[in-house]
Amino acid sequence: MLRALLFTLVSLQYAPNLSNAQLVNWPGASGPTVPRRSGSITGGSRSGRGATSRHSPYSCSPHEKSELGIPRSATCVATTLKPRKRHATTSPGDKTLDPYYVDLTLFKNTLPPLQTRDWLGKLLQARGYKTGLEVGVQEARFSEILLRSWPSAEKFYLLDAWTYQKNYVDGANVGQREQNKVMEHASRRVARYQDRNKTRVELIRGFSTEKAPTFRDRSLDFIYLDARHDFCAVREDMEAYWPKVACGGILAGHDYMSADEVQKSHSGEDWSLCSDNRRHLGAVRAAVDDFSIRHRVQFLITYREDSYNTWYMQKTC
Ligand SMILES: C[S@@+](CC[C@H](N)C(=O)[O-])C[C@H]1O[C@@H](n2cnc3c(N)ncnc32)[C@H](O)[C@@H]1O
Repeated sequence: MLRALLFTLVSLQYAPNLSNAQLVNWPGASGPTVPRRSGSITGGSRSGRGATSRHSPYSCSPHEKSELGIPRSATCVATTLKPRKRHATTSPGDKTLDPYYVDLTLFKNTLPPLQTRDWLGKLLQARGYKTGLEVGVQEARFSEILLRSWPSAEKFYLLDAWTYQKNYVDGANVGQREQNKVMEHASRRVARYQDRNKTRVELIRGFSTEKAPTFRDRSLDFIYLDARHDFCAVREDMEAYWPKVACGGILAGHDYMSADEVQKSHSGEDWSLCSDNRRHLGAVRAAVDDFSIRHRVQFLITYREDSYNTWYMQKTC
């Protein structure tokens, strides 16, 4: 009897301090334990998800998540992520399965963390943005993703040179006949997002810096830069289009990478080469860093792309 009592006391003393649900959910019984805190933070309750469910394939200990449901610890991230296919994206807005789900409407004046660029359209919609521009469109694949999740858009410009260029060592720089076809593809792809007057989506053919003055200052809620990727061009585009962003609007762009990072995955591309033959290894990454420092504006990058992250910054006036 005395031995049984002693055993119970010792067990209680050293047992991991977790509730039953947590014990069930904790990945691998031998995993690390976390101290219990009074008043549990349930996974993303503010973002619409309930308490950690024993049936959820993504369950972490509730203590391992922030109030927005974002895993706090490396252990939680490592044990809850499913292996991803290359370029797989989590569907924006999947509240029930996605441990990274963020309620975008909570971020009125600051930028939320975004997993992939596919979330941008949702963010523009959550903010009720009306006007936008994509610079560097190609076949309008990303334009379509944006338009699909951004019905509040009243005007969306698609700007591309659709022209073969010298000193542009990039998969997008195809021959002129092909460029014309690419533009036709783009036009067809976004046709279903037009309004009755066919003015909601407007294709503009021309070079980014030449066309910039045709937009009024502070007239666009959202601008996405994805034209040339060399340092000189990205720097020029950022300078040319930042004034066009409305107060509270967002300037974003694709491919926050340096030339050597790109070389590793796409050895046929050379983002270090500027159109005037100068070289800068920093490419998009350095141009965005440089802009951020000079203009004293912070930026975020998407955090669950395999690479080719999107950067984004907000303009406060
Ligand atoms: C990487 S692709 C854009 C891909 C597209 N944003 C997407 O995600 O589906 C780059 C495009 O930028 C265009 N481009 C390159 N330099 C440009 C410039 N100076 N002005 C306008 N467009 C340019 C190219 O013609 C090409 O179609």
